[in-house]
Amino acid sequence: MRKIDLRVADLFAGMGGLGTGFSKHFNVDLAIDWDYEAYMTYKNNHKYTDTRNEDVAIQDFGKKDFDMISGFVGGAPCQGFSNINAKRTKDSIEEDERNNYIYELVRATKSVKPDFVLMENVQGVPKEIKKDLAKKFRKLGYKVVSKNIRCWDYGSVQLGKRWILVASLHGHVYPDPIPESQRRTAKDILRPNIESDITVTKSVLEQIQKIEVRDGKLWYPLPNSKGVNYCMVQPDKHIGKILNFTKMRYVKPDRTGYLSSHEMKLAQGFPPDYEIYTDPDKSPSKQRKSIGQQLANAVPVETAEMFSQAIYDHILESMNSLSHWRFDK
Ligand SMILES: C[S@@+](CC[C@H](N)C(=O)[O-])C[C@H]1O[C@@H](n2cnc3c(N)ncnc32)[C@H](O)[C@@H]1O
Repeated sequence: MRKIDLRVADLFAGMGGLGTGFSKHFNVDLAIDWDYEAYMTYKNNHKYTDTRNEDVAIQDFGKKDFDMISGFVGGAPCQGFSNINAKRTKDSIEEDERNNYIYELVRATKSVKPDFVLMENVQGVPKEIKKDLAKKFRKLGYKVVSKNIRCWDYGSVQLGKRWILVASLHGHVYPDPIPESQRRTAKDILRPNIESDITVTKSVLEQIQKIEVRDGKLWYPLPNSKGVNYCMVQPDKHIGKILNFTKMRYVKPDRTGYLSSHEMKLAQGFPPDYEIYTDPDKSPSKQRKSIGQQLANAVPVETAEMFSQAIYDHILESMNSLSHWRFDK
């Protein structure tokens, strides 16, 4: 049971990976995303959150809506930084307008001065920008921990490399990775009785069956596969990061086809009944692409939950040290 009631705003909220994890310990009061499908997914699954289909960059954080916010969580769009984006050059980083959104959480923090901020992004965010962000939060009075992590070490079945920065007014805070013996593997999310909604052609199937799986290697390209990689899912191992199926196909352990969108949703830590909204006017293939993109954008829920737990405990401790009253964990 929650002992204190703290309000969080989720910026660039996507379909709600971070928000779902944080809602275990906080009231996620506000969520903002300008993509209509992601917004609808969030809204339909988070009945108590004020979900807004708006541009983060035009928010007035000085407004009353943000008054009582104790924490911001957010992952700005990362296409410009991603290591997977082969076109990345130094100049394109500087020029890429999207990358400026990463500074929106600093702008929000300046205005609201919340207890904490959690930023997440791809590890490919340039070092200079990571350092600059940490410096800006420190200047505002925050203690900052900024690390490259693997989501597998933080509760997910995916290896999922991310960069997560946590800034707190009350001291340094960051969760410890879980012991290797407790890490999860693909069998936790495999649902062999569900037919996959992602079809595989006969010729690809034949090629997949010939792939020699090597220990430690997750991604296998095929000749003429036009940038698509194949992740050979092994029940007793973690899987690669969930990416849109236009970039990555997840091959079932028996190699009869691909994991379903449902299994990929479970691999992102969402509950089985979490419904992903897509525009009903879109073709089935465009709808699948949208599901794939919403999922690929999300932070694994289990990882978000571990950060949420650590930050909640940390705030509780700092309140206990300031008051005669004690809040039990
Ligand atoms: C990496 S995803 C966030 C994923 C999310 N944190 C989660 O865990 O599910 C980035 C999101 O930012 C949204 N976005 C990009 N620019 C935006 C803007 N200016 N205002 C609002 N949303 C924006 C995109 O639509 C996308 O859903």
